[in-house]
Amino acid sequence: MRRAVCPGSFDPVTNGHLDVVGRASSLFDEVVVAVGVNASKNRLFSAEERMEMLREVCADLPNVRVAGFTGLLTTFCAEQGIQAIVKGLRAVSDFEYELQMAQMNASLTDVETVFVPTSPEYSFLASSLVKEVATFGGDVSSLVPASVHARLTERLAEVAARRAQA
Ligand code: PNS
Repeated sequence: MRRAVCPGSFDPVTNGHLDVVGRASSLFDEVVVAVGVNASKNRLFSAEERMEMLREVCADLPNVRVAGFTGLLTTFCAEQGIQAIVKGLRAVSDFEYELQMAQMNASLTDVETVFVPTSPEYSFLASSLVKEVATFGGDVSSLVPASVHARLTERLAEVAARRAQA
């Protein structure tokens, strides 16, 4: 069985992520969408919430499952019998860092990195930008799945209400 991982923070998952996951699912027998659970990073959504959103939006992809991981991605790959890491490349600016990570990961274990060029309509998309635009009232409804948009709107309203009280 050819098994791949699509790793990321997914805070939250965007249409750009889904594009890459969908394409990986057509190339591999099984795709594990692996959510990095890094406690030191400040996230808008908890790891459980991020995984829940991913499960909802990947429900129509039968060979895709969602998992969390801590520590090294290469350790997760070895534990799960994963041969390939699939990464989306949005622009040349992504390439340098992604190449460095791919080479580091290959030096740690026998895992291949496969780069998938992001579809042009998503080449500017990043979770951080989606959050920033949404925080200031911009319309991001075409950039994330509808269920994610609803949660994002709700969470940002909670955050704003908390800030107003403080
Ligand atoms: O969505 P992100 O924030 O770009 O995801 C980054 C992620 C989680 C894929 C990356 O930070 C990662 O692989 N973290 C696990 C720790 C690790 O293996 N680090 C060495 C990378 S060479």
